[in-house]
Order: sequence, then structure tokens, then C-alpha cells
Amino acid sequence: MTAAVQLLFCSLPSFIHTCMLFLVLYVQGILAEILDFVMGKGLIPADGEIWRVRRRAIVPALHQKYVAAMIGLFGQAADRLCQKLDAAASDGEDVEMESLFSRLTLDIIGKAVFNYDFDSLSNDTGIVEAVYTVLREAEDRSVAPIPVWEIPIWKDVSPRLRKVNAALKLINDTLDDLIAICKRMVDEEELQFHEEYMNEQDPSILHFLLASGDDVSSKQLRDDLMTMLIAGHETSAAVLTWTFYLLSKEPRVMSKLQEEVDSVLGDQYPTIEDMKKLKYTTRVINESLRLYPQPPVLIRRSLEDDVLGEYPIKRNEDIFISVWNLHRSPKLWDDADKFEPERWALDGPSPNETNQNFKYLPFGGGPRKCVGDLFASYETVVALAMLVRRFNFQIAVGAPPVEMTTGATIHTTQGLKMTVTHRIKPPIVPSLQMSTLEVDPSISLS
Ligand code: HEM
Repeated sequence: MTAAVQLLFCSLPSFIHTCMLFLVLYVQGILAEILDFVMGKGLIPADGEIWRVRRRAIVPALHQKYVAAMIGLFGQAADRLCQKLDAAASDGEDVEMESLFSRLTLDIIGKAVFNYDFDSLSNDTGIVEAVYTVLREAEDRSVAPIPVWEIPIWKDVSPRLRKVNAALKLINDTLDDLIAICKRMVDEEELQFHEEYMNEQDPSILHFLLASGDDVSSKQLRDDLMTMLIAGHETSAAVLTWTFYLLSKEPRVMSKLQEEVDSVLGDQYPTIEDMKKLKYTTRVINESLRLYPQPPVLIRRSLEDDVLGEYPIKRNEDIFISVWNLHRSPKLWDDADKFEPERWALDGPSPNETNQNFKYLPFGGGPRKCVGDLFASYETVVALAMLVRRFNFQIAVGAPPVEMTTGATIHTTQGLKMTVTHRIKPPIVPSLQMSTLEVDPSISLS
């Protein structure tokens, strides 16, 4: 085991230096070791030539037309969640939003990556349980002090590991079936592949990769699909969870947000054009990602001796970069801990690592930057807009305090229990004196 260095980056030049050097001198290291059982040589743990080849194959699949098509999918999935909340609001039942967001984003990413409908918002099928078993295991391994799973005998005797292996087998078999089905579809298609190729019936990333003639083994393809499933699931769910938590503390921000959503969306499903108009909604997500970055820590291993700012780094040393500390550093931010979407100008560009000089890293930076950044931004904006358009959210009376625990992403310790109520928009009040008119109080805009 190598020594771990915790770098609390508060000094900008040293951080920029880090980002540049990460190109040549650093690899995924401990992250690749922990995730090997589930992601194999998928894009997140991969390094070197495998990473270069797979990144070149996968990035084009998330082209503009694909992301625009996904907005319809985000809307439909969010609508299914609204129906669940409708029932809870009518019955006066509190809801645990963190698990609902996890299911929402699982349903979305399954369709988006390999055209599979987990339908986890409605059902708890074996495959949904298998996904959660594997995710929990990855999370536990990322914080475990000793890698017991590496002890040979443990693999055979531990009931927990046997469960994980059975879950992995089910997921792998399902992915193999989906790959086979998709291959048949591609074979039967009159294919004219081009840069913005998309099959209307199956716009998934898997379909793009197979249609592009991606020359890859089934195992590598499975590793890549699994990687995107995990990378795009818990991250987006965590962003939504913490956004709703932050909004519950700032009614002023919520009112402003609802005002924008009402005026831009009305009763319609969001479209790609709306993404440009939902400026404040986007700033709410930008600010939530500053305060609760997902993942809160980035990890690299050095290949050679190096010096980062004032920190000497030894070869093979594991480095933990705290994005959490960077995003909350009082040296870099005014009122660093305050949730203030207004810090990002509405008429300015959407904040990212380059226009913020690497003091803001919501999707990482450099060559290993997230491939799903635009996808995830639209996904969270659509879900947020559709939910706050129809409902008000408050922390439920008597709910356990909302505290944090971290694994790959930041979770609550005991869920985010909220009371959801239907929004009642204010009645249209004529500007004349009320007392001189007979106004029906039941008239409303909703
Ligand atoms: C990498 C954040 C959604 C796929 C990353 C990294 C961050 C990140 C910070 C860089 C990790 C590092 O440098 O070690 C997020 C957040 C998301 C999100 C906050 C949601 C709000 C997605 C989605 C997908 C995705 C939806 C897939 C469709 C990936 C992949 C990588 C990655 C494949 C690895 C890229 C590489 O190493 O070349 N993500 N992500 N992410 N993300 Fe995302």
C-alpha cells in the first residue's frame, strides 16, 4: 500500500499545475483496483492505450443530436416520478427523495446507455436489486480499511461476496443479451453511419457504438456500459438530492426558480430550446454542484517523483484531491458555504473548469473530464424544473436530521424525508377593488 497524501488545494497556481501534469504523470491507481470487479477496463478505471482507444470511441456517441433526443426521455422519466409524488401529496404521505432520485436516474441511464427499461420507479425486479447490490459493494470497498475481498478463501466463504458475484452475473448476462439484441438490430438496419448517427427506435450509446463498427471485445463493451451506468447514475441522483435539500433551506431561491419554470415551461414538456431559457434553473444546479461536488474527491497515482506546489510527491503515491475543499475555500469564494445561485451571472457563460480557472471542477478537467457533462446538466435541469413546477417541497416534520456520509458520491445518512404538496398558484386578482367585485375564490391558474 502506498502512502496517501491529502491535498487541500487552496492555491490556484498549484492546482492548474496539477491539472496539466495529470496528463502524463498520473494514472487512476487505487480507483482502478477498487472498481476492477465491476468496471474491469471500462473508461473510468482504464489507463494508457486502452483508455485512449475507448475514449475516442465513446465520446462521439454523446453528440448534440443524441443529447437533444435524451431531453424527451428525461421529461418522461421525471413525469413518472411526478405521478408518484402526486399520489403521495394527495394521501398526505411523506416521501424519501434520495431513493426516488436514485431510481429516477437509474431508469434514465439504463435507457440512455443500452436501451433497457429498469422501470425501477415502479418495480423492484431482480435486476434492479442486483444493480444496487453491486453499487453498495463498490461504495463499501472505496471506504474499507482492508481489502478483504482480495483474500482468496474469503471469496468462497463470504455470503456477502457470493451475493455480489450472483448480482454481477445477472447484470453481465443481461448486458450480453442486450448487446446481442442490439447487434441483430444493427445487422437488419439499412445503415448509413455518420457523425450524428442515431437510431430513432433505439438512440442508446450501445447502438451508436455497434453501428459505428466499434471493433471491441464483448467484455470491453460490457465494461464500458457498466462504467457509464455507474458513472451516470449515483452522481445525478446525488446532485438532485442535495439540490432539493439546499432549496428547502432557501425559500427565496425556490420562489425565484418556480417563477422562471412557470414562465418558460408553462404546461409543456421541456425541449432543447428551453435549456437555454432555463437560466436560473441551470444556475441552481451549478451552485448545488459547487457545494456538493459528486464525487467530492478525485484520485490519482503518480508514475514518477514530482512536486505539486509545495508538496513533494513520491512515485506510486496515491493523491486525493478534495474538490469539496476547493469549492468551499474562503480564499477562492465569497461566502463560500452560502447557497447563492446569483453568484453566477445569468447572462454569462455556464460556469465550467476552464472559465473558472480550475477553482470549480463539477465534471473534473483535462483529458479525463466527464464525458456525460452536458447529458447530466440537462438531465438534472429537466428533473428539477418538472418537479418544482408541480410541487412544493419541505423537510418533513420529525424527519431525521440531514447529515452526510461519503463514498463515491455524497449521500445522506438517513435519507431526505420531505413533505410534498401540490402547488396552488395564486388566483388572478383583478386590479380593481376586490370588494366591488364578486370573485370566485376557487379560480386559479393551476
Ligand atoms: C468522469 C462527474 C454524469 C460518464 C467524471 C469525472 C467527474 C464526473 C468529476 C472526473 C473523474 C476524475 O477525474 O477522476 C459527473 C457528475 C455527473 C456525471 C457530477 C452528474 C451530475 C455522468 C454521466 C455519464 C458519465 C451521465 C455517462 C453518460 C463519465 C465517464 C467518466 C466520467 C465515462 C470517465 C472519463 C474518463 O476517465 O475518460 N464524471 N459525472 N458521467 N464521467 Fe461523469
